[in-house]
Amino acid sequence: MKPVSGFSKMSKEEKIVWLSNQLGGEAQTLVKQMPVFWHHDNDIQKRLDEFSENTLTNFDMPFGIAPNFLINGKTYSVPMVIEESSVVAAASLGAKFWYERGGFTSKIISTKKVGQIHFLWQGQKEKLTAFFEKSQNDLVAAVKPLTENMNRRGGGILSVGLEDMTDKIENYFQLKLEFNTCDAMGANFINSILEEMALVFKHKLGLDDSFTASEKEVQIIMCILSNYTPECLVECSVECPVENLGTINGMSARTFAERFSTAVRIAQVDISRAVTHNKGIMNGVDAVVLATGNDFRAIEACAHAFASRDGQYRSLSKVDLQGDTFKFTLTIPLAVGTVGGLTSLHPLAKTSLAILENPSAQDLMKVMAAVGLAQNFGAVKSLVTTGIQKGHMKLHLLNVLNQLGASPLQIEKGKEYFTDKVVSFTAVRTFLESTKQLQ
Ligand code: MEV
Repeated sequence: MKPVSGFSKMSKEEKIVWLSNQLGGEAQTLVKQMPVFWHHDNDIQKRLDEFSENTLTNFDMPFGIAPNFLINGKTYSVPMVIEESSVVAAASLGAKFWYERGGFTSKIISTKKVGQIHFLWQGQKEKLTAFFEKSQNDLVAAVKPLTENMNRRGGGILSVGLEDMTDKIENYFQLKLEFNTCDAMGANFINSILEEMALVFKHKLGLDDSFTASEKEVQIIMCILSNYTPECLVECSVECPVENLGTINGMSARTFAERFSTAVRIAQVDISRAVTHNKGIMNGVDAVVLATGNDFRAIEACAHAFASRDGQYRSLSKVDLQGDTFKFTLTIPLAVGTVGGLTSLHPLAKTSLAILENPSAQDLMKVMAAVGLAQNFGAVKSLVTTGIQKGHMKLHLLNVLNQLGASPLQIEKGKEYFTDKVVSFTAVRTFLESTKQLQ
């Protein structure tokens, strides 16, 4: 491909022409077809284009619903956006299973967000500490125009601290701020405050007579929120007497509970299993994060860092199997918002929130944790009983049939044919060959 300048200035149509001209064969045809995926409503298309840069078209993902989520006594139908088969099915089954056993109990542990001003400063630390202590209220007051609105909603800056990081990097300090951002995810709010406060901090420090000329120099390195929000935490659990679990995939309730508990303990101690176990949780969480227009990269980054908080990467969920009670709990940091960002701009994010009855950020955290727990329950339940492939392949079959160009009739017959057979690309290809007459 040739390098290009001014690509961002081209219209969408020009970008597609330029790109297709760089390509040949099938790739060229496919790129030329991209407008097929444009939204039929021009206003919506314009808005989607403006979310990002150099946009050519839209990338479709399935939007599904997992009904019957009973969370703290209220029933939700949860919107999920995910491309992987079996995830919505597992969430729905998990929701139904626990609906009949009292549902999910979700509670918020805390909702703090964090931002940092990272800076270099050289001098007597006691002087910096004294300066910080006498000026911290002024620093907060100086950013009042930025916090007023949030203050009115009950949020704002919760604390400002000076962190001495000089044992890690020479002359390195931080101003560490904690925030309550109410129903907003709060990234813009936090970053604007940090940048403004850093300017004020630098200015005031430069004017303070307790410092020598060289101590009046502070080098602000960067100001940014932290996506590590271990104190924006939700805990969700399900619980029932062991015998109420019933016979599961032919297994007695007690055997199931013990095998399930062992599987979760394995994910507590073995990193290779823990990552896959947590991936299963994130299958559910991310699908709701995406459906509601939240930032799945932030959620992912934080969840995995949290899973390693004691120095070893571990399962985010745990089982308590004491006496006759089975209790399964997920504890996960979820810094999400229900106002601002994409939440009202993306038409389907807005629809998702409406389906969830326009929840507060805290309620959304509770719902997401419940879906993560249901997902984890479904995956581990399959793993310790029938194995994962049985259910997985049933849904995967449809993808393979479609991918290999099966006709509607072949799909119908294929579903029957593969009920008791192992699904593989080769097996499906052979089946399609043998049913060519149904094309
Ligand atoms: C697949 O997307 C997720 C699972 O691997 C999760 C797990 O193993 O717990 C099934």
